[in-house]
Amino acid sequence: MSEKVYPVPQDWKTRAHADAAKYNADYTRSIDDPDGFWGDVGKRLDWIEPFTKVRNASFAPGNVSIKWYEDGALNVSANCVDRHLEKRGDQTAILWEGDDPKDSKAITYRELHKHVCRFANALKERGVEKGDRVTIYLPMIPEAAYAMLACARIGAVHSIVFGGFSPDSLAGRIEDCASTCVITADEGLRGGRKIPLKANTDAAIDKVGGVKTVFVVTRTGADVPMKEGRDVRYEDAVKNAAAECEPEAMNAEDPLFILYTSGSTGKPKGVLHTTGGYLVYASYTHELIFDYHEGDVYWCTADVGWVTGHSYIVYGPLANGAITLMFEGVPNYPSSSRFWEVVDKHGVNIFYTAPTAIRALMGGGEEAVKKTSRASLRLLGSVGEPINPEAWEWYYRVVGNGRCPIVDTWWQTETGGILITPLPGATDLKPGSATTPFFGVEPELVDAEGKVLGGAAEGNLVIAQSWPGQMRTIFGDHKRFEETYFSAYPNKYFTGDGCRRDADGYYWITGRVDDVINVSGHRMGTAEVESSLVAHEKVAEAAVVGYPHDIKGQGIYAYVTLNAGVEGTDELRKELVAWVRKDIGPIASPDLIQFAPGLPKTRSGKIMRRILRKIAEDEFGALGDTSTLADPGVVDDLIDHRQNRK
Ligand code: WTA
Repeated sequence: MSEKVYPVPQDWKTRAHADAAKYNADYTRSIDDPDGFWGDVGKRLDWIEPFTKVRNASFAPGNVSIKWYEDGALNVSANCVDRHLEKRGDQTAILWEGDDPKDSKAITYRELHKHVCRFANALKERGVEKGDRVTIYLPMIPEAAYAMLACARIGAVHSIVFGGFSPDSLAGRIEDCASTCVITADEGLRGGRKIPLKANTDAAIDKVGGVKTVFVVTRTGADVPMKEGRDVRYEDAVKNAAAECEPEAMNAEDPLFILYTSGSTGKPKGVLHTTGGYLVYASYTHELIFDYHEGDVYWCTADVGWVTGHSYIVYGPLANGAITLMFEGVPNYPSSSRFWEVVDKHGVNIFYTAPTAIRALMGGGEEAVKKTSRASLRLLGSVGEPINPEAWEWYYRVVGNGRCPIVDTWWQTETGGILITPLPGATDLKPGSATTPFFGVEPELVDAEGKVLGGAAEGNLVIAQSWPGQMRTIFGDHKRFEETYFSAYPNKYFTGDGCRRDADGYYWITGRVDDVINVSGHRMGTAEVESSLVAHEKVAEAAVVGYPHDIKGQGIYAYVTLNAGVEGTDELRKELVAWVRKDIGPIASPDLIQFAPGLPKTRSGKIMRRILRKIAEDEFGALGDTSTLADPGVVDDLIDHRQNRK
């Protein structure tokens, strides 16, 4: 791994909110006196009822309970909108850039306030109440932010489903949290292609009961069927709604949103985040890590369907009164200069994206970048998967012209906000390392037995103490929450990631140690893809693993055992890929399918994934001990027919 060090540039030491001395002092205080530290940070929000208690968290087996600011009351939308009206009502809140480069608009905080209040009133009008779940299935249009904030305003709990998920995936998520209301659009638009969101919504609702209202935002103007009594045009609903809506006083521990994410087993889990601690953490990390200053133009390229969009497009930036850019399109449409053209068009100062996008653009060559100015850029960020040093260097040198620090931010849907990251004015950078913990975060490395490792070491990454942005439970299944995150290493939060710490105390995330794979920065449970494959009538058994992929980080490799008499043809491969796409969504499409007459199993019938991973990586010389296999012979066949030959 690269051990090159990029020191903090001189001007950053003075301009940034935190330099090295402040980081060290504040970090020490945050660990030694978390109540004092987070009590002070908590005051950055406007509280309807000020809190007197700060932290009340236990990771004890059988009794996991996490509460922050538990006697305080506040409203997230009031913090993200209303409190900015006096000082910056006419400043841009959301800078929207459409899929088509000719399409863009700026929404001020005052306008945002009206949109949010109107939508909130429209929700109420349709009987949506505090605590009700609302599913949002929208493209990247400003109405997505209005919808989130409108829910927060009346205390409804939103659950956003990424527009790339299939009707089945949407149905599962509507059903799991018993949503009564869905907010969608006629169609989405990405890279010039249309996504039939309303048709998908109709198909999803056909499978589950309980949805009383569907709001349909007009995006493309496509002629979509509207179901009498159930479907409402967003434009009609807000036209007649009042432009004032009193924000609901929410307890700090009232739910704010549910977001489904993949785990190593079973169906996606509804990660539940609450109101006070989440917003304190999202806004504080956004300001410190991206070194946000008044008037900066900040752009996070994520989709609001993922946690990055929740915390770092909408909640964190808006709580800070920032100008946040929201992009509907994709990096390579109309050309692979698009990101940088948008940077120039809007004078973007802070740019936050995923390694997979950087690697894809790297493949397009430097010219597409160099023909743009990018003079406004000051800071770059990375999230979603480990960034390989080559991509880091390219990002730094070509995109940032060697003048912009890169914050490689490690975190998860479960953590609510960034946990391990450089602070640009404080931390010397090492390409490929997420560097050091944020305030209040106590990372530890443990071995398989749970022994805490000191000094330079490699092990499983756990977090020893709660932080305000931590998820509180899995919606409707607290037991699964405890089992998933707190049972492997009692009294610690287990991240599912492997990690190395070097002699300087820098953290290097090595990737998931469970059966979760990270495809283009999107989390995918191998079990989900397997259960989709075995649902196909020709498939007897399937095992799915990740393998290194130049652009995606990890690709999806599926071993499929067919039913007796079925022939494994290329046609069938295509059919299975289409099947999974339709069942889960395009992001779950297998990249490689190997037809396998048998899978390597232990005598007790457990599939030995270690062997399947090695073969998928084309590393079959290092299979390790195969003597415990019920039928060691299957391995030779697997090697002979492997699909990834370097
Ligand atoms: C991975 C995305 C290395 C990690 C915010 C984690 C990273 C999973 C980084 C969470 C990073 C995220 N370096 N790995 N900077 N950021 N990951 O829930 O494996 O979609 O567990 O949250 O992405 O993915 P999730």
